[in-house]
Amino acid sequence: SHPVRIAPSILSADFSKLGEEVRAIDAAGCDWIHVDVMDGHFVPNITIGPAVVKALRPHTTKPFDVHLMISPVDQFLEDFANAGADIITVHPEAGPHLHRTIQRIKALGKLAGVSLNPATPAKMLDYVLEDIDLVLVMSVNPGFGGQSFIESQLRKIEAVRNSIDKLGKDIRLEVDGGIDINTAPRAIAAGADVLVAGTATFRGGPAQYATNIEALRPK
Ligand code: DX5
Ligand code: ZN
Repeated sequence: SHPVRIAPSILSADFSKLGEEVRAIDAAGCDWIHVDVMDGHFVPNITIGPAVVKALRPHTTKPFDVHLMISPVDQFLEDFANAGADIITVHPEAGPHLHRTIQRIKALGKLAGVSLNPATPAKMLDYVLEDIDLVLVMSVNPGFGGQSFIESQLRKIEAVRNSIDKLGKDIRLEVDGGIDINTAPRAIAAGADVLVAGTATFRGGPAQYATNIEALRPK
């Protein structure tokens, strides 16, 4: 697998100054910027839309890892692509034709990810894994930051890691939810190579970001 990447979720940033926050996590050494997009329908919260992604784009050159928790999702793919997303991740439950959605993301010139909710089985990937660039295993139910890591998802990470290695393609395995200094090493040991971290990145304010990010990396 790849060197471990840290992707702070700006869901835990100060929304009154998101541009500054993005510059601060960039300067603190993060690898990607994780953007949680929620619609109040697919998940019980509303967050960020394409206009905000576009406004943040000039603040960093690091990849925007855009996690779409919206349904139906297809009609918004182009907006997020144009706004500056680099990776666009969707949930299988967010539309009737996952394979078509993936092809659309790729036709927009972006990397395509598929995210599995805690109750969604790894076998959902069987006929799409070869077409995607990233798998995102949700280790909490999507909707909010600051929830506790769901232990059963370690088994799913292991299963997806096996499938990726068997396929032998360049696919990232990302974990999202409840990642902190205790769960990070366990997720990595299970096979994750990208860690999303909201609470664990932003706690303590900007002076702590570099320390917080570094603490999540494998020792
Ligand atoms: C949850 C989001 C996560 C969340 C992670 O719906 O997809 O990215 O913000 O937050 P923490 O790291 O606080 O669990
Ligand atoms: Zn997320």
